[in-house]
Amino acid sequence: MIELENVAYSYGGAELLSDISLKLAPGSFHFLTGPSGSGKTTLMKLCYGALLPTAGYVRIFDTDVRSLSRDDVAMLRRRVGVVHQDCQFLNHLSVNENIALPLNVSGRGAEAQGEDLGDLLNWVGLNERAKALPPELSGGERQRAALARAVIMSPDIVLADEPTGNVDWEMSQRLLHLLIELNRMGKTVLIATHDLSLIRATKSQVQARVLRIANRRIQLAGADL
Ligand SMILES: Nc1ncnc2c1ncn2[C@@H]1O[C@H](COP(=O)(O)OP(=O)(O)O)[C@@H](O)[C@H]1O
Ligand SMILES: [Mg+2]
Repeated sequence: MIELENVAYSYGGAELLSDISLKLAPGSFHFLTGPSGSGKTTLMKLCYGALLPTAGYVRIFDTDVRSLSRDDVAMLRRRVGVVHQDCQFLNHLSVNENIALPLNVSGRGAEAQGEDLGDLLNWVGLNERAKALPPELSGGERQRAALARAVIMSPDIVLADEPTGNVDWEMSQRLLHLLIELNRMGKTVLIATHDLSLIRATKSQVQARVLRIANRRIQLAGADL
């Protein structure tokens, strides 16, 4: 679904990522780990076409990101759900409206406003907070709202960048559980995290591959976690 071939990326100075090859197969579950500043967010952005590689190839649904048409970009927005590291919301819109925003932008607002949105809010446990404004949410509530917004379009792939940052252990387990559920429903999941204990806690629940960025390259992490 997403394929990187000998990808390199540099923001202008020295190369941050070099010679990265990676395939995310349909239905797979991956963690992406590595120290802060190692390039996890950058690699995620390459995976959904927000950045173009400075060398090598990125293909998303078999389309080279360098040749994406405007229609392809619209298709990508639908099929790839992203939980951004900073979880920004429009502060003057309610939680409800923020989560439904991708639907409205794509012109599918009316058809799915009702039941689907209610189900989704229930699933992330935010039905009581539907009318709240984003600044009124706790860290964990923000993360769950960001996850709901990422999956409202029923994407095939969910990319979550540090989805458990700034929340306590119990909440991080709850968020992780939601991502595992999505994977069980057949979605391809990639989670960037520097939290190794979170990865360990997942091992018994899902077959996950752990990718680690070290020295600008990607390695498949072994059993030493
Ligand atoms: N837009 C940018 N311009 C220049 N440098 C950047 C930009 N975004 C990130 N970087 C740098 O690239 C490195 C990797 O950042 P990032 O991909 O966010 O790493 P991580 O998510 O693993 O913490 C950091 O040194 C960061 O400062
Ligand atoms: Mg990051």
